Amino acid sequence: MLPLIGMNIQPISPADYRTIVFFTGAGMSAESGVPTYRGRGGIWAKYNWEEVACEEAFRRNPEKVLEFHALRRQQLADCRPHRGHAVIASLEERHAHVAVVTQNIDGLHQLAGSRRVIELHGSLWRLRCSREGTIYHLSPREKSPVRCQCGAWLRPDIIWFGDCLDPEVVQRATEIIGGCDLLIAVGTSAVVWPAAGFPQLARDQGAHCIKINPEATEMSSLYHVSHQGPAGEVLPALFPAATTA
Ligand code: OAD
Repeated sequence: MLPLIGMNIQPISPADYRTIVFFTGAGMSAESGVPTYRGRGGIWAKYNWEEVACEEAFRRNPEKVLEFHALRRQQLADCRPHRGHAVIASLEERHAHVAVVTQNIDGLHQLAGSRRVIELHGSLWRLRCSREGTIYHLSPREKSPVRCQCGAWLRPDIIWFGDCLDPEVVQRATEIIGGCDLLIAVGTSAVVWPAAGFPQLARDQGAHCIKINPEATEMSSLYHVSHQGPAGEVLPALFPAATTA
């Protein structure tokens, strides 16, 4: 079946599905004012990840790497979830069988009220001791410490280029995505692995797969339906009942 491109949106009845998974990427947060990674205005167009987002850079110049992430937290402190985040959170509240698997590290799904959130790439709101692994939780506008009580540098508890994903997190994501019957991929370029393989897993297991993205992306043919539009408009149109109080 060819994917249906366009904004001719057929509302979805959540009750028709056993388990619904929203698989989200940076585009999910774009309308909240968080820059995406790739493309015009993207973070990797402005910064070189080899200098700010890998273990080697951290070993070479921890201050520079920490400063980059502190700046990201500072920018995020002013960002609020949008209507699309609210729709997902409201669906979870009304239907127990809804979960989010996200590549995002910004915490906006949780801020909107989603509780079943699997963060594949960690969170900007946690720091981890580079020696002992102790976790520190941060709140917005809090000045982040740079060293653990043991004296070692604290690094963001996120996945940098070259890092391996936490196997336990991958296991949980694999279970929930492998068992879902509706997967909705929102705002991801799907070029970063292993996360990019999750929509295919859902499809292989027989799930109905929908994509929301204003641009055509790689692997578009994987999806049964493609809605070419922004998350903040397409999600409320797909789930009109979830937008009412
Ligand atoms: P990208 O920046 O690669 O892709 C963002 C996608 O969002 C693009 O396909 C855009 O077309 C789309 N987009 C833009 N605005 C949108 C909107 N309003 N609504 C819906 N979609 C929109 O971000 P990711 O795919 O998340 O890794 O990138 C994957 C990983 O690469 C990130 O998790 C990060 C990065 O390096 C780590 O931090 C480990």
